[in-house]
Amino acid sequence: MVLLSPAERDVVVARLRGAGCVWAEDETRLLVEAAGSPEALTGLVERRVTGEPLEYLLGWAEFCGERIGVQPGVFVPRARTALLVSAAAAVTGAAAAVVELCCGTGAITRALAGRLVAPRLLAAVDLDPAAVACARRNLTALAVPVFAGDLFDPLPPAWRGSLDLVVANAPYVPTAALDLLPAESRRYEAPVALDGGPDGLAVLRRVAADASSWLAPGGHLVAEIGEVQVDELRAVLTGAGLVPTVVRDAALGATAMTACRPGCGRHPDRAGRPG
Ligand SMILES: C[S@@+](CC[C@H](N)C(=O)[O-])C[C@H]1O[C@@H](n2cnc3c(N)ncnc32)[C@H](O)[C@@H]1O
Repeated sequence: MVLLSPAERDVVVARLRGAGCVWAEDETRLLVEAAGSPEALTGLVERRVTGEPLEYLLGWAEFCGERIGVQPGVFVPRARTALLVSAAAAVTGAAAAVVELCCGTGAITRALAGRLVAPRLLAAVDLDPAAVACARRNLTALAVPVFAGDLFDPLPPAWRGSLDLVVANAPYVPTAALDLLPAESRRYEAPVALDGGPDGLAVLRRVAADASSWLAPGGHLVAEIGEVQVDELRAVLTGAGLVPTVVRDAALGATAMTACRPGCGRHPDRAGRPG
C-alpha cells in the first residue's frame, strides 16, 4: 500500500480516466493497495494505461464474492459465470462427484466448493499449462486435484459413469468474432481460452459427445454459452442423449444450459430425492 496525498491520487485517477478506465476511482484505490512503493505504483499505472487487464496487475479477480488468483494469459473469470455456478449448485445433490472441464483459474470449482454441502469429489481439468498452474495454486487448500490435458482425457478411467456434475465454461466465441472482443481480452488472454471454432461450439460438441459416458444416471452437464448458441447446443445435447434446459440471468447478461443424463432424480446422491 502506498500513501498518496489527495492531489497525487487525483493525478492517478485522471491518468486512468484519460486512458478510458471507466471505474478510474476504484482502480486507483486497488492499484494503490497493491503497490509496494511509489515506483511500483507508477509501473502498475503505466501498464494499466497501455491496456493490461487490471486483474493481471492485481494478481486476483473477484468472482462470486471471493478473490481468486489470476496470472497473465489465464482467462479472467467473468461476473456472468456466477449463473453457471448457481445453475450447477441447483441441480446437484449433497454428496456430488464434480469435475470442472476447462477450469482456467479454477474459480468455478472454488465457488462450487463453497456452495455444495459435502461433495465426495471435486476435480478440475485444463489444457493450458499456465491455467493448470494457476488453478493448482487456487485449489491446493481445498485438496482439489487439477489435471492437465484435453477435456475428459486425463481423468482416471475409474470415474467413468460415476460423475454427478460436469461443469464447463469452455471457449465459445466463434473464431470470426474473436476480433470483436474487447482489446484487453484479445491482446492478453490466451486464444485457447476464447476460440470456440467456426460457430463457437467446437469444444462443447466434444464435451457433449463424451458427457453421457462420464456422468452417472441422473448426472448433469452444465455449460455457459452465448444466447445465439442456445438452439444449436440444445440440438447437440439432445443428440448426445442428454435432456437440456436453458437458464438465463438478464441482470448478468448470462446464458447457461444444464443437461441431464436420463435417470434424473433417481440417483442415490441426489439430496432429498429417492435413491
Ligand atoms: C473461457 S475459459 C474459462 C475458464 C474458467 N472456467 C472460467 O470460467 O473462468 C476456457 C478455458 O478452457 C481451456 N481449454 C480450452 N480447450 C480445452 C480443452 N480441449 N481441454 C481442456 N481445457 C481447455 C482454456 O485453456 C481456458 O482456460
